[in-house]
Amino acid sequence: MPFARSFAAVALSALPLSRCLSIVVPGTVPDNASDVVDQAFVGFGIESTSFQLYALSGQTGSQTNQWTQNILSGFADRTGAPVNIRVGGTSLDNARFDATQEPAVRYENATAPHTLHSPITLGQRWLAGLRALADVTWVLQLPFARGNQTNAVEFANAGLASMTAGTLDALEIGNEPQWYHTAVYNDRNASWSPEAYLEEWDEWARAVLVGTGLHQVEGPHFHGLTLAGVVPPEWNSAKVLDSLDNSTVKAVSQHYYQSTNGGTLQDTLMNHTFTKTRMANYSQAIRTLQTNGNNIPIVFGEVGSALGDGGSADYALNSRLGAALWTVDWLLYAMTLGIRQVSMQLGIDYPFAGFQPATVNASSSPYASPTNNTDHPARVLGGFYGDVFVADFIGRDGELRVAELATANENITAYAGYSGDALRKIALVDLSLWNGTAAQGERPSQTVTLQGLGDATERVMVQRLTGPGGMALATEISWAGQQWLTEGNGRPSTTRNDTLTIDVGGGVVDVEIMASEALLVTLL
Ligand SMILES: *[C@@H]1O[C@H](CO)[C@@H](O)[C@H](O)[C@H]1NC(C)=O
Ligand SMILES: *[C@@H]1O[C@H](CO)[C@@H](O)[C@H](O)[C@H]1NC(C)=O
Ligand SMILES: *[C@@H]1O[C@H](CO)[C@@H](O)[C@H](O)[C@H]1NC(C)=O
Ligand SMILES: *[C@@H]1O[C@H](CO)[C@@H](O)[C@H](O)[C@H]1NC(C)=O
Ligand SMILES: *[C@@H]1O[C@H](CO)[C@@H](O)[C@H](O)[C@H]1NC(C)=O
Ligand SMILES: *[C@@H]1O[C@H](CO)[C@@H](O)[C@H](O)[C@H]1NC(C)=O
Ligand SMILES: *[C@@H]1O[C@H](CO)[C@@H](O)[C@H](O)[C@H]1NC(C)=O
Ligand SMILES: *[C@@H]1O[C@H](CO)[C@@H](O)[C@H](O)[C@H]1NC(C)=O
Ligand SMILES: *[C@@H]1O[C@H](CO)[C@@H](O)[C@H](O)[C@H]1NC(C)=O
Ligand SMILES: *[C@@H]1O[C@H](CO)[C@@H](O)[C@H](O)[C@H]1NC(C)=O
Ligand SMILES: *[C@@H]1O[C@H](CO)[C@@H](O)[C@H](O)[C@H]1NC(C)=O
Ligand SMILES: *[C@@H]1O[C@H](CO)[C@@H](O)[C@H](O)[C@H]1NC(C)=O
Repeated sequence: MPFARSFAAVALSALPLSRCLSIVVPGTVPDNASDVVDQAFVGFGIESTSFQLYALSGQTGSQTNQWTQNILSGFADRTGAPVNIRVGGTSLDNARFDATQEPAVRYENATAPHTLHSPITLGQRWLAGLRALADVTWVLQLPFARGNQTNAVEFANAGLASMTAGTLDALEIGNEPQWYHTAVYNDRNASWSPEAYLEEWDEWARAVLVGTGLHQVEGPHFHGLTLAGVVPPEWNSAKVLDSLDNSTVKAVSQHYYQSTNGGTLQDTLMNHTFTKTRMANYSQAIRTLQTNGNNIPIVFGEVGSALGDGGSADYALNSRLGAALWTVDWLLYAMTLGIRQVSMQLGIDYPFAGFQPATVNASSSPYASPTNNTDHPARVLGGFYGDVFVADFIGRDGELRVAELATANENITAYAGYSGDALRKIALVDLSLWNGTAAQGERPSQTVTLQGLGDATERVMVQRLTGPGGMALATEISWAGQQWLTEGNGRPSTTRNDTLTIDVGGGVVDVEIMASEALLVTLL
């Protein structure tokens, strides 16, 4: 095969836009690979004011939302594990529960504008969502901000009674407590601090365990801290992390939004250097948790591409192919750091949500988001395609370990997946933004030579996450030739034939990747 490869290189070098890159893939698991990745690594989070519409058939419906069920069952099929869903957020923290209330969600001040911090009351109907969905496990947050412990215990009991037995993963107490004493929130007074939080949290955790009977069930039952992405240093200091008790705290939950206030796709999402910078503090926290003997893992209970005034309503930043490529790169990178699990955040009218499973008449919806009140049909959004790529990367065998591979091109990232000690797959992500405008000319591509695949490897399958450019909308994006379209009801249809099978010679294969695209190369 050497002749064919050098021939290809010569032929390609005649094309000005095509370049070559060589990656040596270690044949056995590298020292810095992850531990075995949780099959349910890719989970979802649902903001509580959107939960009814995600789980049930409309704002007053009591049937399962089939769109959501089909999406979730699709993930469970790909990984062989139930999908972990965290229900919570600022809205649930400011909720109270009233079993006698008819509507699922009632804004307590009918004339005030709806924000995530608006006081709301949840009714029994809301809880029906916890029973409606199958193929899931739950992380249920309890309201903490308003300080009614009796009500939180009542809510926990009602929530547990609604869930199918055995589907509780963990409870959370409150959400992003580092904001409680700020003027905007005003949930606690100026003396609020991590120490005050830990003390109050501890008392609540005991009350919840006893009040629900979970104290009789072996194992830790809570996700702790539930910190927002921009963490004041004192909130995840070694002192705070060291104080957590692994007999109560199953995982430390942090929230992550890559952009905190807008930006452009190339600068903030399709930028691996930026990802590594933003993630560095979490690797530090993981090391602290590992070395203090408590060995508590970190999960990301809320994840999105962008938040803030400039980011959370920006469809161009959040819902294009570029956001899906960020999703692939970020999820795989988070695995290599040792993050245990993530919840990709969902909510009605959130541009960074992977999917919205209902046609929403925003003008009449009590769930209308403050960021965009335009009516939208049920649909997936761009970032979704990154979630499903990574679910397929994880696959069903339950032994996946992941290592990042060095590449000589800052805009191309590469990850190797191993099962046991055997190399099984490679993910390649080309993060150069090609926006399809005349100014950018023809779409560049790279020939990536993968070496070290082993003499016994005869062929690879190459599946593609692609679209007509980094700005492509969900309706134009495909993964492995499949698209999730509104009429598909949460199920994919095959619309493109772009999966290749390529012969491997002497453990070497050339694959072609275009700017703004990702490949999954599986050894056959
Ligand atoms: C309800 O909201 C309106 C508008 O923001 C405000 O004027 C009023 O004081 C609020 N009512 C209560 C009981 O807080
Ligand atoms: C706290 O919750 C309990 C139980 O739901 C309720 O009876 C009580 O009125 C609430 N207290 C306040 C101050 O709202
Ligand atoms: C602040 O709130 C705490 C309870 O969270 C209370 O013990 C303390 O007295 C309050 N301080 C002031 C100045 O109101
Ligand atoms: C990381 O933590 C340091 C100190 O706690 C803080 O100053 C810095 O802003 C954090 N960096 C990021 C990217 O969050
Ligand atoms: C990528 O992020 C890094 C770190 O924040 C920054 O220095 C660099 O300018 C960014 N690159 C682009 C192309 O925006
Ligand atoms: C819990 O922490 C203790 C030390 O505080 C440690 O000995 C034990 O191994 C930890 N348990 C788990 C399951 O990591
Ligand atoms: C709201 O969403 C629509 C449809 O995606 C979009 O065209 C519009 O620009 C968005 N409005 C704002 C303010 O983001
Ligand atoms: C949305 O609701 C408003 C107010 O109830 C109504 O006037 C409008 O016709 C509805 N739009 C659609 C598309 O159903
Ligand atoms: C593992 O090593 C590779 C190659 O040196 C490097 O690119 C990657 O960042 C490392 N991963 C971690 C988690 O340190
Ligand atoms: C990576 O992308 C940035 C932003 O488009 C560009 O400035 C840089 O030249 C690219 N680097 C390589 C090696 O292509
Ligand atoms: C596309 O990229 C070109 C060159 O990088 C830039 O000049 C242009 O503004 C971009 N257009 C859009 C719509 O993003
Ligand atoms: C897909 O394309 C290949 C050629 O690239 C062809 O051999 C194969 O039959 C096509 N499959 C379908 C289902 O059209």
